[in-house]
Amino acid sequence: MTDRYAVIGHPIAHSKSPAIHAAFAAQTAQDLSYEALLAPLDGFAAAVAQFRAQGGRGMNITVPFKEEAWQLADRLTERARLAGAVNTFVFGGDVQGDNTDGAGLVRDLEVLGAPLAGARVLLLGAGGAARGVILPLIDAGVARLFIANRTADKARALQAHFAGHDARGVLAAGGWQEAADAPYDVVINATSASLSDEAPPLPAGLYAPDSLAYDMVYGRGLTAYLKQARDQGAARLADGLGMLVEQAAEAFALWRGVHPDTAAVRATLRAALP
Ligand code: ATR
Repeated sequence: MTDRYAVIGHPIAHSKSPAIHAAFAAQTAQDLSYEALLAPLDGFAAAVAQFRAQGGRGMNITVPFKEEAWQLADRLTERARLAGAVNTFVFGGDVQGDNTDGAGLVRDLEVLGAPLAGARVLLLGAGGAARGVILPLIDAGVARLFIANRTADKARALQAHFAGHDARGVLAAGGWQEAADAPYDVVINATSASLSDEAPPLPAGLYAPDSLAYDMVYGRGLTAYLKQARDQGAARLADGLGMLVEQAAEAFALWRGVHPDTAAVRATLRAALP
């Protein structure tokens, strides 16, 4: 029997997840379907219950429901609990909530040739997107993870939130200027500034000679942040398209027990971008 999966959000029409998962299913010869579900803003829980009652095996959750999904789950993985957001449900006897965004980012950075073990990393932003990737970055063995934010207190609050997982003492936090005390191997923009064509006003001298500047958004060409990074000396630039594919692959592996090869899907999506 064909196992059913879905991505749920509002809006959802432009989601790339159905195409990504269809490609993974074909490549791994898994008998599954994957659809896009539009839930009314006040009807998330009902839509999830309905899909589950119809035999759904799992879901991805996207904007604006990731926090509500976190509330709704019967159980949370540790990374999802700390992220405060859920992007993947696994339906069994109960609803397990997980978050594969951070693992997707870590995997993408590996693919891009920017390994995190021993790396000095600067994370820009202290909202949901930043919070979702901090534990996987720590667990990937970074030597330093500085969380910088426009509102410095929010960055410090995030550092405190993850203190129990920072046995090696790699975390630090503050405002843009406080981030200036080290060159970084990887700088990740997890602010929403790119959505309004803005860049965080970063001080000069942040980028190590072989550094990678990464913007979590995709499909916007060279963002204001990436332009600034290029001008400030970042050696390489990357958008978040790979993270999108890799977080999907992590979810697929949770559901199906097989990790798809992402190279072909990455290339196809890249070729389709403007
Ligand atoms: P998301 O879920 O995308 O992380 P969010 O939780 O609203 O969205 O967080 C948005 C993040 O982007 C915050 O870190 C915000 O900074 P503040 O905490 O100071 O508000 C940051 N941000 C948004 N617009 C920005 C801009 N123009 N320049 C710099 N940072 C910006």
